[in-house]
Amino acid sequence: MEVLGGIILPLPFYSKESLHFARTFKFQDTDILLVSYPKSGTTWMQHILSLMLNKDFQNQNSMPTYIRVPFVEVSSFKIEWDKMPAPRLFASHLPANFFINLKNSKTRVVFLVRNPKDVLVSYYHYHKFAKFLPNFNSFDDFFHQFVEGKVNYGSWFNHTKSWLDVYHELNSFLITYEDLFQEPRQVIQNLANFLGLKLEPNDLENILHCSSFSYMSQNYSLNYSSSKFFDQSNGKFFRKGVTGNWKEHFSQEQNDEFNNIYQEELGDVNFKFDWSLN
Ligand code: A3P
Repeated sequence: MEVLGGIILPLPFYSKESLHFARTFKFQDTDILLVSYPKSGTTWMQHILSLMLNKDFQNQNSMPTYIRVPFVEVSSFKIEWDKMPAPRLFASHLPANFFINLKNSKTRVVFLVRNPKDVLVSYYHYHKFAKFLPNFNSFDDFFHQFVEGKVNYGSWFNHTKSWLDVYHELNSFLITYEDLFQEPRQVIQNLANFLGLKLEPNDLENILHCSSFSYMSQNYSLNYSSSKFFDQSNGKFFRKGVTGNWKEHFSQEQNDEFNNIYQEELGDVNFKFDWSLN
C-alpha cells in the first residue's frame, strides 16, 4: 500500500502517473462515469450500466466488468480512451476533488452509495479474500482503521461528503445500494431515463435477470473465481449481497461509536439516505 494523492491505494494497480491521468482526464459530454466507494455494489452497477447500454446480453455476460467499465485511475489497463466509442462508460473510486474538470462538462455521473456499516463489513471480508490488501488481526482492528479512514481509498466519510458537495453542480444521479436492492425494476428504469435510454420490456427483464445476485455470483466471467489476485479458500467476491449484514458483526459498543462518528461527520449534510443505521 502507498499513500498517493493523500489517500492510501493498493499497488500494483495504481501509480502517481495513473492518479495524474485521472486528475487531468478530459471528459466528453457523452461520457458516463460511475463513482462509488469500494464495496458499495460497484460491480453490480458496472454490469447493469453495461447491459443497459449494449443490450448484447451474451457478449456482456462473458466479459469481466472491469474490462467493460474500466476504472479511470487504474494504470495497468492501458486503455486507448480516445478510441472508445461514445458513450464511453467508466468508473472511479476516487473522491470528487480529483475530478475538477467534471464541472465543466455534461458528463453523466452515477453516484452509488451504500450504508457505510455494510460497506465496512463487506470491506472487512474483502481484506481476507484479496491478496493485495493487508491482513487485520480482528474485526475490531479493521473497524477502527475504517472509521479513521486508514484503509484503501481513505475515509468513506470524506469520499461521500466530497461527492455530495458537488452533486448538485453536476449532471448526476444518486443511487443507493439499498434502493437498488429493494426496487431494482424502478431504479433501473429511473437510471435509463437519466441516461436517455429507452428500455423495451424485454430488455428490462433481461437486465433484471442478468444482474441478480444468483446470476452474477454463478457467472464464471464475472465472479473472479479463477483470479490469482484472490485467495479462493478465504471468501467469495459475491459474498452475501444483502442489506443490514452489519447487524451480525457490530457489537453494541462499535455501533455506538460508529453512530457518533457518523453524526460528527455527516450530521450537517443536508441529505437523507434511505438506509437504516439502527
Ligand atoms: P457483500 O460483501 O456485502 O456481499 P463492489 O463491487 O463495490 O466491490 O461491492 C461488492 C458488494 O456488492 C458485495 O457485498 C457483493 O456481494 C455485492 N453485490 C455484487 N453484486 C450484487 C448483486 N447482483 N446483488 C446484490 N449485491 C451484489
